[in-house]
Amino acid sequence: MASARPGSSIGVLTSGGDAPGMNAAIRAVVRVALHHGRSVVGIANGYDGLIDGNFRTLGARDVGSILQRGGTFLQTRRSARFFEARYQAEARQHLAEAGVEGLVVIGGEGSIAGAQALAQLGVKVVAVPASIDNDVAGTDYAIGVDTALNTILDAVDKLRDTASSHNRAFLIETMGRGCGYLALIAGIVCGAELVLVPEVETRVEEVLAAVRDAHRRGKASAIIIVAEGARLGIGELLKAIEDADVGYTARASRLGHIQRGGSPTAFDRLLASRLGARAVELLVEGRSGVMVGIDGRSIKPRALEEVVGRQREPDPEFVGMVKILAR
Ligand code: F6P
Repeated sequence: MASARPGSSIGVLTSGGDAPGMNAAIRAVVRVALHHGRSVVGIANGYDGLIDGNFRTLGARDVGSILQRGGTFLQTRRSARFFEARYQAEARQHLAEAGVEGLVVIGGEGSIAGAQALAQLGVKVVAVPASIDNDVAGTDYAIGVDTALNTILDAVDKLRDTASSHNRAFLIETMGRGCGYLALIAGIVCGAELVLVPEVETRVEEVLAAVRDAHRRGKASAIIIVAEGARLGIGELLKAIEDADVGYTARASRLGHIQRGGSPTAFDRLLASRLGARAVELLVEGRSGVMVGIDGRSIKPRALEEVVGRQREPDPEFVGMVKILAR
């Protein structure tokens, strides 16, 4: 391992909603930077920490035993101040004073837009996608998605047990903001009877018809997974099912923030380690203004302009599959 050169350090921060695997990414950033002879500055509380100069040096031992922990030991925030140009300039000033040659930003859509703002101010920055929502363009997966899906799978399997015992229709709300990815994939891997996502309009009558149909086909329960951003909410649907004669009684369950916690899966630990490592390598090579993403089995950099503001559309293969597999 090379020794650190003064004034030659890599900064790292986590921003936005936490995601399982963020710690694994920080660990990779720190250890790969040390390997390349850089020192590492950890920035607490996301962009707020950049504005406030909340910096500390991170060594190899500081990131010991965090690989397996959910959340982020650097802490994270959704910074309202960072939208303002004067605070972005303060952040840039703090980075320069700390001798940071390049910054790794680990976070979702909004955080990557923040990285782009810094790049436009001349800060060398590489973004690492981490968000359970999987709404970041330019990568097949963001860090945390796989763990969140496994958490959802565990919860829905349990809800299926009780739903089938009581002959019930169960409405289950998943996270994802404006993106239906978690709901859609959960629908397939949990065998849901119906999935509602923000990107596809579904009417109340269609939901009632699907539930009635499941009952007519002799199913002991009907699971309807509703993305939090879908136009119809679980409260409204619960009332509609209770008021209609569908054959089942009904209950609703919001999975909530439990989806963001927990020990990252092997997939997320590997993805986070690869993306964190590549981000540092790119900075060491003098690259900036890119996000590292996974494309098939390869880690690839994408220009931030190709990522920020782009929406991911749901895969039509998955949309069609839910209904067919629920026969
Ligand atoms: O972006 C991750 C996410 O968990 C979304 O799925 C959800 O809409 C949002 O964050 C919740 O944010 P908060 O933790 O601020 O309530």
